[in-house]
Amino acid sequence: MGSANVSPRRKINLAEQIRKLNAIGIALSSENNLNNLLELIVTEARNFTRADGGSLYIKEADKLNFVVAQTESLQHTNGKKQPFKSLYLPLSKASIAGYVALTGEVLNIPDVYDVPKTVAYRINKEFDRQTGYRSQSMLVVPMRDHTDEIIGVLQLINSMNGRGEVIPFEPEYESIILSLASQAAVAIRNVKLIAEIKNLFRSLVRYSAKAIDSRSPHTAGHSGRVAKYGVRLARAINEETAGRLGKIHFSEEEIEELRMAGWLHDIGKIGVRESVLEKTTKLTDDQIEVIAERFEGIKRWLQTQSLERKIQLCSTAKDQIEKMAAETVQAVAEVDAAFEFIKRINLPGFLNDEDRKKLKAIAQQTYVNSRGERRRYLTKKEFENLSIVRGNLTEEEYKEMQSHVNHTLDILNKIPFTKDLRNIPKHAAGHHEYLDGSGYPLGLKGDEISNQARIMCIADIFDALSSPDRPYKEAIPLEQTLEILRSQASSGQLDGDIVELFIRKKLYLRPALDDEED
Ligand SMILES: [Fe+2]
Ligand SMILES: [Fe+2]
Repeated sequence: MGSANVSPRRKINLAEQIRKLNAIGIALSSENNLNNLLELIVTEARNFTRADGGSLYIKEADKLNFVVAQTESLQHTNGKKQPFKSLYLPLSKASIAGYVALTGEVLNIPDVYDVPKTVAYRINKEFDRQTGYRSQSMLVVPMRDHTDEIIGVLQLINSMNGRGEVIPFEPEYESIILSLASQAAVAIRNVKLIAEIKNLFRSLVRYSAKAIDSRSPHTAGHSGRVAKYGVRLARAINEETAGRLGKIHFSEEEIEELRMAGWLHDIGKIGVRESVLEKTTKLTDDQIEVIAERFEGIKRWLQTQSLERKIQLCSTAKDQIEKMAAETVQAVAEVDAAFEFIKRINLPGFLNDEDRKKLKAIAQQTYVNSRGERRRYLTKKEFENLSIVRGNLTEEEYKEMQSHVNHTLDILNKIPFTKDLRNIPKHAAGHHEYLDGSGYPLGLKGDEISNQARIMCIADIFDALSSPDRPYKEAIPLEQTLEILRSQASSGQLDGDIVELFIRKKLYLRPALDDEED
């Protein structure tokens, strides 16, 4: 048919339809939630054809997944949306959708209750039976993606005229809906592809973080928990309506970015030696064992010395021998006491001046070893480790431990994050920055520290203090942990509003943490 035969009315319609189709194409390509996209496809196709109902099936291996069902008139009679559960149909020519999925044919059926006996497909009347609906006209098209593969089927039910009567679908809708269906197919493919890539990246991030956390038994699971506490805090801040926090809102993308930053915040620990990561006391068990043996040696040396002198003194006064024996017992007891003292101060904690002096005195004492060499009670390295005033790391080890944030920043800066995730390096590497500038690595202050980094800092401290899995200690009691957070807030290190929210909403409750999305 030549263009001269096309009536002016049809021409206007065609232009209008192309415009609508374009608008739909744009809407479809900008929806990135799969469920919303599928609903949108059915809604738009129904609007286009004035169809009362519509369904969408996605092909999955040898099945059809029935994912969307909409029926306008039933919604009106029931006053609510139809309850819908996705279900699977076998991929066979016996059903209308299956037939279209397998053959790629477009079916435009005036009345599905009245199809010729010669065709392979039949309508499944179950839906009509259950709802009292009468499916009549149907337009069913395959959804082909850019590679021409059929990925699903779009089914439109009961085209309506202006008087609310069911009429057959206009044949001119066939090619338009076919074209809409392939736009939809491409959009579905894209959304699925993006979801797959995101999923792949998420898994990679989680497994790397878990591997790094598990290098040390006392950090197992730490990054995942920091991510979860962080997300909890962000969502709780979103619920706030008053005060400073009431003005902060995190979008879903920002929450996802924060979650990732939580997972990745300690990734730089890969650059810290295991001996430092795993250090739980000032000296290792092996090093303490060396001291134990040495001190046993010292005691034997004292006793041997005493024996030798006894022999020398044999000829002299008895009370002198007794006095010396008593002195030896005393000296041996002092060695035992010194060793007990060493074991005590080997645990991380605060070393006061008095203990420091005592340690120095012990370290400076000398004995003669089995080779006849005079030695100090403690080596230089042992003394250096045992004299750590706070915690259990020497200054050098502490610097190495702190360097994990620099490594985190270096590593994350090299990852070409997408726009949505571009702030991960900043948030993740800010988890040890304090508002008063006393944190590390950059010593950032106040507004220089993002809200997300403030959240992570609190989550990180809370988890480190409350984890029961540190070998040398029980978890610090909850009340005390919260008190530490409060005091760090009042001293100007932590964001006081966020700390208070964390405590007020009991966001720290651990038991439910496992049920939360990773
Ligand atoms: Fe850290
Ligand atoms: Fe951490």
